[in-house]
Amino acid sequence: MSDIVNPNWLSVRLHEFFWFVLSQKTYKEYVDWMQLGGDEKFLDFGCGPGAASIHIAPLLQKCGGELTCFDLSHTWIQRARKRLRRFDNVRFFSGDIRQSSLENNYFNAVNIHFMLHDIPVSQRLDILQALAVKMTVGAKLYIREPISSDHGIPIDEIKQMLETAGFQAEKTTIQTIFGKQALTALFIKL
Ligand SMILES: C[S@@+](CC[C@H](N)C(=O)[O-])C[C@H]1O[C@@H](n2cnc3c(N)ncnc32)[C@H](O)[C@@H]1O
Repeated sequence: MSDIVNPNWLSVRLHEFFWFVLSQKTYKEYVDWMQLGGDEKFLDFGCGPGAASIHIAPLLQKCGGELTCFDLSHTWIQRARKRLRRFDNVRFFSGDIRQSSLENNYFNAVNIHFMLHDIPVSQRLDILQALAVKMTVGAKLYIREPISSDHGIPIDEIKQMLETAGFQAEKTTIQTIFGKQALTALFIKL
């Protein structure tokens, strides 16, 4: 059986074609919107094969930053490792953030891109709270998630979960991304 966390070979190929070939511009514009300084300790949480990471890594490499690619799926982390092998400022981890050995109070920038809605509802808040522990006070959380009722999380639910996990909204916009209504937002870890 294939799902997004345990993709089979065909699913990997199809997703990678969509993310790296058809959607490259969308990822690049999203990373540009972040306006990174380049010296961040950046975590791409639920990175998949690295479609956003591939635009983040060179910005950080120029200015002494460090990128950590993290995903529940070992398959996607292997794919990200392959895509990003030319960068020496990138680390790769797979597993459950709630049991992860990743440093606490460490990351000052985190990306969540089209992944929160793939986490079972009952686990979302726990996972966001575990993620918050890994971040410094004042750290930036960049998030983009679909918000439509058929495939996504209602915007108020996203905001409420993040507030409960210890974040405050700084900028929020609604856009059409991949043909779906999506929230693009910056939250700050309090
Ligand atoms: C739709 S993909 C998006 C990948 C990437 N963020 C992007 O936008 O190209 C969702 C990703 O979230 C990952 N994921 C799902 N649950 C996760 C969890 N609990 N912790 C970390 N990653 C998770 C999946 O394995 C998958 O790589």
